[in-house]
Amino acid sequence: MSEVQDIIELAKRRGFFWPSYSIYGGVSGFYTYGPLGSLLKRNVIRSWADAYLSIGAIMVESPVVSPESVFRASGHLERFNDLIYECSRCGNRQKFESLLKEEEKGREFDQESAQGYVRERKLQCSSCRSDRITVKEYSLMFPLGKNDKAEERLYLRPETAQGIFLDFQLLLNQNRGKLPMIVIQTGGGFRNEVAPRNALVRLREFSMGEVEVFIDPETEPFRPDASYGEVHFLDNKGKVEMLSPFDASGKGVVRDPAMAYFIQRTHMLLVSLGVDPERLRFRQHLKSELAHYSSDCWDAEALMDGDWLEIVGIADRGTYDLKRHGDVSGTSMEVRDGERKFIPRVIEPAHGIDRIVMAIMAHSRKVTGRGYVVMSFRNGVAPYHVGIFPLFKKDGLAEIARELYRNYSSIDAACIYDESGSIGKRYARQDEAGTPYCITVDYETRNDKAVTVRERDTGKQVRISIEELTSVPILQNAKLAEKFSQ
Ligand code: GLY
Repeated sequence: MSEVQDIIELAKRRGFFWPSYSIYGGVSGFYTYGPLGSLLKRNVIRSWADAYLSIGAIMVESPVVSPESVFRASGHLERFNDLIYECSRCGNRQKFESLLKEEEKGREFDQESAQGYVRERKLQCSSCRSDRITVKEYSLMFPLGKNDKAEERLYLRPETAQGIFLDFQLLLNQNRGKLPMIVIQTGGGFRNEVAPRNALVRLREFSMGEVEVFIDPETEPFRPDASYGEVHFLDNKGKVEMLSPFDASGKGVVRDPAMAYFIQRTHMLLVSLGVDPERLRFRQHLKSELAHYSSDCWDAEALMDGDWLEIVGIADRGTYDLKRHGDVSGTSMEVRDGERKFIPRVIEPAHGIDRIVMAIMAHSRKVTGRGYVVMSFRNGVAPYHVGIFPLFKKDGLAEIARELYRNYSSIDAACIYDESGSIGKRYARQDEAGTPYCITVDYETRNDKAVTVRERDTGKQVRISIEELTSVPILQNAKLAEKFSQ
């Protein structure tokens, strides 16, 4: 099985995530997070938000549904399309780019040239092999019903960013009129993907963590740190370099220091979440790939199954969105600085939360010499911090373990009680769940009021008194850490 297929199998079996609506046959592109996945995702979102709140960001939560006028102004209605092909024999629809050879992936096509390409090469449908395939522009927007009052159609948002641009002046006011201003928003985004695939990789409903950074164009408030380490860069001419973001900016590989700064922050966040730095790169978009609103974009990509998957996009949106909404709505998006009036420029690190979850899972998965799977999640993202078990249910051990669980869960809610199956099976279950520690109550506990704690990554076991163990949450227990280091 491939790395991604392994994760999908584990995710379903252990309750990280599974396809939605299965009792009605399923609908592709929709996934439900189970008990473990919900916690993992919550921890990712919390770490993402904290990383930006800690540098002065403000947060906003705008509606998921927006009127058509928003997306007319933003350009999404006209230009947020994929080129697809449709087979008139079997109805199969796929992205046009799936027909291209690897070396042709950067080539620019419009509908006409794409149809010509299909004709010349006599390309066939991937499903029924018919050559009756037609290239079309396919809107990724999700239309809803009409808004009675305004006679306007409503749409599900394809990105959370628009909610920030629309209320730019209100947000600036809340930020005491100060630039730079960093605004973050997390929530659902919706795209009517023609070919959803690989579980959380390409969803129709997905979670975003977007950051809009508003900058006075006459200032340079963000510069990468000279001391930050090397990052893997691949520019749009195909040149690969290991450079610090500081040097990438200095040498003009990344032309804007603010972009280089947010590449550094993104790298730092992803590595802290458990993305393997050896399997992480920043790739500059080819001109043909740029979204209609951006003039430059660097994607953080994680390597899985030999393919690089975009997990964060850091785009230079310039003044595009504020100008468009200012012009179309008639509401000024200008900022005053004394006599000077200007529209701020925008850098946008946009995080695909579900894809980050997938990358963390793929990069945290280890297989032991005996073939067992251990999810070595970082402490900050692991769904549970500790599993609490009685060695056996009988002889009063379960009562002691349950009491320990009740007491302990009041100081750390991320704990789970398990008394079913053999102790080996319970350890294996928590290894697959990525729980860093397991506590076992055994016969000796009745006399010495101590328990055995097992560390996930080493399998090492130490004995510690219940009193010492339950005085602080397990991840901050210095006494326990000392025992494991001996
Ligand atoms: N706002 C970034 C994106 O839609 O991908």
